[in-house]
Amino acid sequence: MSTTSTLEGGARPSDPAARPSRRLTVPALRTRKGPDAEPLVMLTAYTARMAQLLDPHCDMLLVGDSLAQVIYGLPSTVPVTLEMMAAHGAAVVRGSRHALVAIDMPFGSYEASPEQAFESAARLLKETGAAAVKLEGGEAMAPAVRFLTERGIPVIGHIGLTPQAVNTLGGYGARGRSEAEAAKIVADGIAIAEAGAFSIVIEGVLEPIAIEVTERVACPTIGIGGSARCDGQVLVGEDMLGLFDQTARFVKRYEDLAGRISAAVAAYAGDVRSRAFPGAEHLYQPRA
Ligand code: KIV
Repeated sequence: MSTTSTLEGGARPSDPAARPSRRLTVPALRTRKGPDAEPLVMLTAYTARMAQLLDPHCDMLLVGDSLAQVIYGLPSTVPVTLEMMAAHGAAVVRGSRHALVAIDMPFGSYEASPEQAFESAARLLKETGAAAVKLEGGEAMAPAVRFLTERGIPVIGHIGLTPQAVNTLGGYGARGRSEAEAAKIVADGIAIAEAGAFSIVIEGVLEPIAIEVTERVACPTIGIGGSARCDGQVLVGEDMLGLFDQTARFVKRYEDLAGRISAAVAAYAGDVRSRAFPGAEHLYQPRA
């Protein structure tokens, strides 16, 4: 391991883009509601180093169960375990000091009962130091959301395209194309907000649905394939940085990291093969 890879903390005083280093709180984020409020900036992070890099610019870091595909090469989020979420959650908390860190509850860790949800969520917060959990689902999950929030666990809801339900939904297409499904997603958002969620992620829905939920709930909404009129936005960090060739329509790429990594590794391979690396500056010689 390189000595340069030790943790240095998140925001640096010398970084002009850095925000104050005090961690944002749930009550502070809850107030960021409505067209006049500053939109919430959220990205996923799964590792300490990425958390360090993203933290100064984000209000929230989400340890998403999308680590299934991004980190582990799994076909869906269904196989993700509490152990995986706890390990990555702790790394992201260690790598950040400004953003609120929220952790996804993995499939199977919360749906059976509010009590099961509490046990899993409490474990995640205890083992990681994160401040909140996120869980997928609408009206059916409202009792769990209420149970957690009344017992000191802040919850972010997640409605619309809920990837853990891929086996029921049959894919990752946009939701709400029928009137009945659109009405159900709106009802889901209202139920989760009334149950006490401090924020709701709205993923992959027709834009009017995201706008209606945003207008009808008191907590901030965070869009991902929702609407610019949501109270904030979230993307998978590796998607917006261009690490993957294929991404959903809702991803905007701000970099081509895949291309840059390829070029850098090709240069390294060339240097090794031509013996241009290592150079004298990389080598140790006996002291004279
Ligand atoms: O797991 C994840 O990355 C998420 C976001 C896409 C919202 O849930």
